[in-house]
Parts: sequence; structure tokens; C-alpha cells
Amino acid sequence: EQNIAIAIDGPAAAGKSTVAKIVAETLSYIYIDTGAMYRAVTLTALKHKVDLDDEEAILDLLLHTEIELTQKEKKQIVLLDGFDVTNDIRTLQVTNNVSYVAKLPGVRKEMVKRQQALANNRGVVMDGRDIGTHVLPNAEVKIFLIASVEERAKRRYDENTQRGIESNMEVLKEEIEKRDLIDSKREASPLVKAEDGIELDTTSLSIKEVVERILTIVYKYV
Ligand code: C5P
Repeated sequence: EQNIAIAIDGPAAAGKSTVAKIVAETLSYIYIDTGAMYRAVTLTALKHKVDLDDEEAILDLLLHTEIELTQKEKKQIVLLDGFDVTNDIRTLQVTNNVSYVAKLPGVRKEMVKRQQALANNRGVVMDGRDIGTHVLPNAEVKIFLIASVEERAKRRYDENTQRGIESNMEVLKEEIEKRDLIDSKREASPLVKAEDGIELDTTSLSIKEVVERILTIVYKYV
């Protein structure tokens, strides 16, 4: 049996982390949420009141910041210099600013380096925007998850409701579209399907169905 690398990319709120986690658990692989890393550096930048286009200052912050992705009682947690920021990186403020930080080429270079080190050995499921194109270009399986913006906004809405957060469907749609636009239009490793990636439209699929389709592809390799 062989351990492989699985890259899961796609636009915001397409369900990447949900299915990536299940796929990783099923295979006993490690799961790496690269979006959490960009969110963590954005949180630090906001806390330090650094201009989000001041690449030098943000890179300096990042180089002095340790970001750890780990597990506690089976839950994914994110540590920033040892402090648990799992919830803090999901606030609206971070969500609506992360794409400005993620477009800085120097920040991406450092992140890609860290992500490649984390995935050093195979047996990894990594989700993000540029995993199949830049972080793990040799990944055996590359999935590009998409869904209509209406469906993605609805999923985010339901998720918020479950967490007791009130939200507005139209506003959610706009926020998702804006983030996708910045992520797709940036110069440095934009959001795009890898040439050898497999596009999977999840608009009318359940989580279980998406996981099954990915595992069917994976089982051709392992
Ligand atoms: O995956 P998530 O929605 O948490 O990612 C947050 C943001 O981080 C994205 O909108 C994008 O700007 C950035 N990101 C990225 N490259 C990745 C993962 C995330 O640019 N590999």
C-alpha cells in the first residue's frame, strides 16, 4: 500500500475543509488546512494594526510567528505562537481581509515553504487555492471543488445559523464573490484549476457523495 498526496482546491465555501477532513480520517492521512495559515497571519497583522498592503511589515510579522495546525480531542485547532486562535481566525473581520494578505507574493512564498515542509511525507490531504498548482504540484490526486455561489452562500448561512450567528444571504453571496475575485485575479499563484486537476461540481451533491467520489479516485492509487 502506498501513501499519496491529495490536493483539494477551489473557491470559498465550496466545502473543501469538510470533505478534506473526512477523506483524511478515512485514509488515516494528515489533514492540512492552508487557509487557516493565511487567516492566522491576517489575524496577527490586524492585531498589530499593520497596513494590509505593507508586504515588508507583514512578512516580518510572519517570519516571527509560529503557526501550528494540530488536534485537540479530535478537533482541528490552530495555534499562533502557542495561543489557540481556532475561533479568532473565523471572524468576519479576518474572512473579509484575508485575501489582501494572501495576495502578497512574499507571504505566499513563505507559506508555500512551510506547507511543503508540513507535507514532507505523503499520506496528506491538503486544501486551499494553489495546492495542486504550486504547493504540491506532484500530488497524485488533484481535486477542484466548485459549487454555485447561491449554494455556497446557503451552506455558509446554515453553518452560521447552527453556530447561533445571524447572517444575510445576499451579504454572504457578495462576500464570497469578492473573495473569489481577489483570489482568482491576483498575480501570485491565483485560484485556478490545475491542468491535471479533476473538477467536481458539488452543487447538488451531499457531503457523503462528494467524499465517495473523491475516494473512488483515490483508490485507483492506493
Ligand atoms: O480556505 P479559506 O477560505 O479558509 O481561505 C481563506 C483565504 O486564504 C482565501 O480566501 C485565500 O485568500 C487564502 N488562501 C490562499 N491560498 C491557499 C489557501 C487560502 O490564498 N492555499
